Amino acid sequence: MRALTIPAYGETSPLTLTELPTPEPGPGEVRVRVEAAGVNPVDPFIRSGGFAAMSTQQLPQVVAGWELAGVVEALGAGVTGWPVGTAVVALIDWVGAPGGTHAEQVVLPADLLAARPDAVAPALAATVPLNALTAHQAVTELHQAAGATVLVTGAAGAVGAFAVQFAAGTGVRVVALAGPEDEQTVRRLGAEIFVARNDEPAAALRAALPDGVDGVVDAALLGESIIDLVRPGGTFVGLTPHSTPSPRPGVATHSLNVHGDGRTLATIMDAIARGELAVREVETYSAAEGASAYARLAKSGRRTGLSLVF
Ligand SMILES: NC(=O)c1ccc[n+]([C@@H]2O[C@H](COP(=O)([O-])OP(=O)(O)OC[C@H]3O[C@@H](n4cnc5c(N)ncnc54)[C@H](OP(=O)(O)O)[C@@H]3O)[C@@H](O)[C@H]2O)c1
Repeated sequence: MRALTIPAYGETSPLTLTELPTPEPGPGEVRVRVEAAGVNPVDPFIRSGGFAAMSTQQLPQVVAGWELAGVVEALGAGVTGWPVGTAVVALIDWVGAPGGTHAEQVVLPADLLAARPDAVAPALAATVPLNALTAHQAVTELHQAAGATVLVTGAAGAVGAFAVQFAAGTGVRVVALAGPEDEQTVRRLGAEIFVARNDEPAAALRAALPDGVDGVVDAALLGESIIDLVRPGGTFVGLTPHSTPSPRPGVATHSLNVHGDGRTLATIMDAIARGELAVREVETYSAAEGASAYARLAKSGRRTGLSLVF
C-alpha cells in the first residue's frame, strides 16, 4: 500500500510517498481502505518529532494522520456488524496505533468506526472525526449546565467551530473569541456574545467579560493569559499540555487528549447529514501533494478542512 511517510523528524523534513506492507487486522480490528484522510495541526507536530517518545511507530516509516473516511476491507476475528464494503469514518488513537491514517490501508479497533452517511462525501467526512470529537469531549469536560457562560477561543477554527455548536446545544451562553471577519460565522454557529480578536486577546476578553465565565474551551491556546477569567467553580479545558494552566483555588483545569469514540462519532455524522451541525468546506490534495497540505496549515486565516485523497 502507499503511505505518506515521515523518514526523519524535523519541522521541514520532506514527506515521502512510500510502498509499505498491507497491514492485517487482529482480533476485534478491521482494515479500512482509505478514501480520504484529514490533515490537521497535529500532523506537522508529529513530523517535528513531538510524539517521538510516545509513539510505537519507527523512523523512517512514521505515518501521521488521525482521521479517515473509507470502506471496510477486511475483518479480524470476532468482528461483527461491519460488513466488508461499509462506508465508514474514524478517529484513531494515533499515539498507540501501529500506523497513521495518511495511508491507503489502515487497521484499527472496530469500536472506533462510525458509518459514513451517503450525504457526507468522503473528503469532507475525513475532516470531521478529530475536530468534532475533540470539541465534543472538551465541552463534556466543562460540566456546565444550561445558563452558564462558556468562552470558546479560536472559535472560527476547526475545533472551535464545533465547540461553539456543541456548547450552544447544551443551553449555555457561548462567548466566541475570533477575528472580526468571523463574527457572523460564529454567531450563526450559536455564539451569543462575540469578542473580536486583536493583538491583546486577553485584555479584550477582560474588558468584554468583567464578570468572567464558568468555562473555557481554549482552542487558540491562550492558556495562562486568560485563566483569571474563570469564576470559582468553573473549568478550563486546554488543548495542549503546555497551554493548559495549573489549577487555581476553586477552578479546575484539564488538558484534553482526544480519544476515538465510534458511537459518539456516529451521532455527529448523522447530525451533519441532517444539516443540524455545520461543517467547513474542504480543500483536497492527492497523497503525493501531502507537503502542500502541510504548508497550507501553516498559513493563518485558513477556514477550510484539508483532506488527502488516496
Ligand atoms: N488535545 C487534543 O486532543 C487536540 C485535538 C485536536 C486539536 N488540538 C489542538 O488544538 C489547537 C487548535 O486546533 P485547530 O485544528 O482548531 O486549529 P485552527 O483551525 O488553526 O484554529 C485555531 C484558531 O485559533 C485562532 N488563533 C490563533 N492564535 C490566536 C490568538 N493569539 N488569539 C486569538 N485567536 C487565535 C486562529 O485564528 P487564525 O486562523 O486567524 O490565525 C484559529 O481560528 C491546535 O493546537 C491543535 O493541535 C488538540
